[in-house]
Amino acid sequence: MSPALRVLFVTSEIAPWQKTGGLGDISSALPEALARAGVEVRILVPAYPALPLAFPDARPIAEIPPPGGRLPASRLLQAATPGGVPLLLLDCPACFERPGGPYQSPRGGDWPDNALRFGLLSRVAALLASNASPLVWRPDILHCNDWQSALAPAYLHYLHGGGAATVMTIHNLAFQGLFPPSTLADLGLPQSAFVFDGVEFYGHLSCLKAGLQFADRITTVSPTYAREIQQAELGFGLDGLLRHRSAVLSGILNGVDARWNPATDPLLTKHYDAQHLAAKEANRRALRAELGLIGDVTAPLLAVVSRLTHQKGMDLLLAIADQLLDGPAEAQLVVLGNGERGFEAGLRALAARHPGRVAAMIGFDERLAHRIEAGADIFLMPSRFEPCGLNQLYSLRYGTPPVVRATGGLADTVTDCTPEALRAGLATGFVFGPPDASALLAAASRAIDAWGKRRLWRRLQRNGMSMDFSWAKAAADYLDVYRAARAARDIAAASGPEYNGG
Ligand code: ADP
Ligand code: GLC
Repeated sequence: MSPALRVLFVTSEIAPWQKTGGLGDISSALPEALARAGVEVRILVPAYPALPLAFPDARPIAEIPPPGGRLPASRLLQAATPGGVPLLLLDCPACFERPGGPYQSPRGGDWPDNALRFGLLSRVAALLASNASPLVWRPDILHCNDWQSALAPAYLHYLHGGGAATVMTIHNLAFQGLFPPSTLADLGLPQSAFVFDGVEFYGHLSCLKAGLQFADRITTVSPTYAREIQQAELGFGLDGLLRHRSAVLSGILNGVDARWNPATDPLLTKHYDAQHLAAKEANRRALRAELGLIGDVTAPLLAVVSRLTHQKGMDLLLAIADQLLDGPAEAQLVVLGNGERGFEAGLRALAARHPGRVAAMIGFDERLAHRIEAGADIFLMPSRFEPCGLNQLYSLRYGTPPVVRATGGLADTVTDCTPEALRAGLATGFVFGPPDASALLAAASRAIDAWGKRRLWRRLQRNGMSMDFSWAKAAADYLDVYRAARAARDIAAASGPEYNGG
């Protein structure tokens, strides 16, 4: 038997301890699935305050002196996830021991030293993937996620001249980690890196571009998004580079982890599955009571759980909400989310206009997110773009058919409720095309009509609940990508120092 592939998975979030969105969920679920598939995987994540608290027994395994530029000294602590995956905590109090979120201060703005904070994460990841690592354990593959770890392949290229093969996963191309050119020296990168085929992007240093430029393989989180980001409309200026590297770019759909299962979810009022859907009703009653919704119990309950941003189409939702609520079905609505202040205010005002029929839950609340997925009837996700999207997957699994826009992972995972798709047993939700309010209203109205037809609705629910979004399949696809990355690195080593991963 060949030895297990060793993978260092670098991430800036990990659920349930530090999460702002889907990256957190993926960073706990995928490494565990990889471990089950026989990969020897370790996770590297910053030691935000929640992590040493969750792992008080984490033990120091390496001291890392200041690695250049203005990057501070740090050390590595080792713990293990409940699933048994080794967790390396990057301990640097000056960078990570502070209140607020991983990227933003409690007042909302980005931390001013984000370049240094995530530069350090990337620099240490590269070190551990290089021959200069202080650890005995050396990965074959360095797997980076989003801009926060995307400088690592550039560090390996410029400072180590090689090391582990690299895979760069794009969870969202809109966030690139752009900083002024002077940051280069702070990060300990050579001035020669500030070129078109280096880390320069329209006069800025772009962390994400560095990863896309130097990684051996690039993945994103759905096949459709992998195509979309190669076009100007959703390419955020990087479509040219992605087209150039399309031969090494692929899309792998995220899975749903075991915590999201209505048959076992400890946060629900009552468990249910596709054969026992009547029990969903108890969750609905409990949710309505918890949210203070009053009036007609037979009115459809629509739900949103989302970052409140333009990406997620929250302006479209606000544009149609009154019309939807004033329609003949007298629908009710719950929105759980936080984000742009204007959307938060818009939702509060909506709730004030429809007392007892709209719950605007502004904040981040994991427990409530689960209870909403179980208790609502219809889920709305009108994203302008969506690399994968997890909430439509959770909705499918919880028998809460989603209304989605045909983009990215939403297009890949939800099948519109047409008569043909229903006959074929494939329909799972409601899909609309143009990113505009009237298209959303039409699709949401179709969903409300269908909800009134009990037998049809049960079929739709069961079709969605029987879909397989297992992490095992995704893990197998990542394994193929890792092998290809390693093969590319072997070829590069054989063909001399000129090669830069292109
Ligand atoms: P993104 O990562 O772009 O925000 P995803 O759909 O991939 O979108 O993942 C979002 C994740 O974050 C889901 O697990 C969702 O339940 C969760 N989430 C988003 N907003 C909130 C919130 N306000 N409270 C609780 N969970 C939330
Ligand atoms: C990003 C994307 C989302 C995706 C998640 C995890 O935050 O916006 O679509 O599901 O990453 O990959």
